[in-house]
Amino acid sequence: MRIDIITVSPDLIKSPFEHSIMKRAIDKKLVEVHFHNLRDFALNKYGKIDDYQFGGGAGMVLMIEPIDKCISKLQSERNYDEIIYMTPDAKTLNQATANSLSMVKNMIILTGHYKGVDQRVRDKFITKEISIGDYVLSGGELAAAVLCDAVIRLIPGVLGDETSALTDSFQDNLLSPPVYTRPSEYDGMKVPDVLLSGNFPKIDEWRATKAQEHTQNIRPDLLD
Ligand code: ADE
Repeated sequence: MRIDIITVSPDLIKSPFEHSIMKRAIDKKLVEVHFHNLRDFALNKYGKIDDYQFGGGAGMVLMIEPIDKCISKLQSERNYDEIIYMTPDAKTLNQATANSLSMVKNMIILTGHYKGVDQRVRDKFITKEISIGDYVLSGGELAAAVLCDAVIRLIPGVLGDETSALTDSFQDNLLSPPVYTRPSEYDGMKVPDVLLSGNFPKIDEWRATKAQEHTQNIRPDLLD
């Protein structure tokens, strides 16, 4: 997979790709991530990439021309399956979207800033718009890093244990059951006997019940 991220703050977004699973995926050459500074496509030598919105109102809007130049350059080099725009006014990211994006070959992720991008960018280029939650971040960079993490860990071969992504919360629309490790008793708090029993069918059954209960209590909407 190849991911091209267009941003006004490349330094803000690079660090998550230099650690942990995303770094491992890049080192194993299972994914390539390229960062493009929108200012390199600015309209003038002062780096102009944004302007006031027509009709008045606070906040600057990213202009179409620098974004067009950047996306068109990338498109002249290869085909893209998805051109994604990170924005709070979109459908919320979920595991199903992460699963389907983990199968694409090339994608561009455009991160917004200030008041967002000129609507014509969305109309002309964007194939999918994604929010990471019902709150507003200062820019789309952190949201793009979240999306990439959720997607990259699902690429086959990225996780050492092939099954571990499959038992994640949400993979089956259920929250995860509780987990415990040593010691089996701490400050009077005991690990449930069943987990120490060695009876694996019973353990599976206990986990399934706990997952169901936990989901019912915390996120009943997932069970609808
Ligand atoms: N940009 C700003 N807030 C965002 C959010 N919640 N999701 C995606 N992109 C964003």
